Amino acid sequence: MPHAIPYQGSKRQLAHAIVPLVPLDTERLMEPFAGSAAVSIAAAYLKIPKAAVISDINEPLMALWGRILADPTSLADDYEGLWKAQLSDPRAYFEEIRSKFNATREPHFLLYLLARCVKAAVRYNRQGEFNQGADNRRLGAKPDAMRTRLHATAKALAGSTALTRDYTAALEAAEVRDVVYMDPPYEGVSNTRDHRYMAGLSRADFVTALGDAIDRDISFIISYDGSTGTKSYGTPLTEALDLTHLHLYAGRSSQATLNGNTALTVESLYLSPALVARLGGVGQVTARLAPIGA
Ligand SMILES: C[S@@+](CC[C@H](N)C(=O)[O-])C[C@H]1O[C@@H](n2cnc3c(N)ncnc32)[C@H](O)[C@@H]1O
Repeated sequence: MPHAIPYQGSKRQLAHAIVPLVPLDTERLMEPFAGSAAVSIAAAYLKIPKAAVISDINEPLMALWGRILADPTSLADDYEGLWKAQLSDPRAYFEEIRSKFNATREPHFLLYLLARCVKAAVRYNRQGEFNQGADNRRLGAKPDAMRTRLHATAKALAGSTALTRDYTAALEAAEVRDVVYMDPPYEGVSNTRDHRYMAGLSRADFVTALGDAIDRDISFIISYDGSTGTKSYGTPLTEALDLTHLHLYAGRSSQATLNGNTALTVESLYLSPALVARLGGVGQVTARLAPIGA
């Protein structure tokens, strides 16, 4: 499965489990919390939806996506230039490019920063400047590897669209033959202990937007909280929405492995009533997941 950019929280390892829940008659797969768009790439690679519409509130990220889709060759050329220019002093060069990105918001600078920064985590300070540091053990993907990834991703996503917008606008634009896949920022890994918010997102607004989408018979899937061993993140979504709640056993948590234990990561998926009906009911949904142990 191709992937273009490293991104903290990427669903790359789980995409194979989520994609079987997208019906074969899907017009558009919409991914409004796109990040690295792992689920859209996987579904498009398998030619399940007619097209993907990826969107995220992070404007420079979506400008990068715009270039990946429109012109992967020139983006790969720019990345190669940056990657080679760093070799004499990679530490200082990262900081130089970070300053240039903060001044210009140019997509190729962001690609280089994502390839080199700690945990591929996009972090901004209060002034909106990218302030994540370099992982100085790594130089970032080699130019040839990046070129191959960018081209493979652009090919898989041919005909797809990348937009900067809030998730509410994406949900409002969805129609009944679409499927919306949502992976909002987790509560558990956000800085807030206040459960009214999910990393900057109001829970109440999220639940209201979901309720409106349900009333319009929109098919959607939410990756919502996660748990590792006995530790769980996030408050379950309200039962009033009548969503179907599934657990995916997602293998070992990389964080747990780093800490020397081998706790299993469990991912929650919530499906809207319209999607469950399209798939033929809850029994059919679990049958689709059976081969991967959900
Ligand atoms: C957990 S990440 C998604 C990762 C993604 N599934 C992947 O495979 O890379 C959550 C994303 O939500 C975006 N986001 C946060 N608040 C948002 C909002 N109100 N509307 C749209 N996107 C938002 C963030 O910029 C971030 O990229």
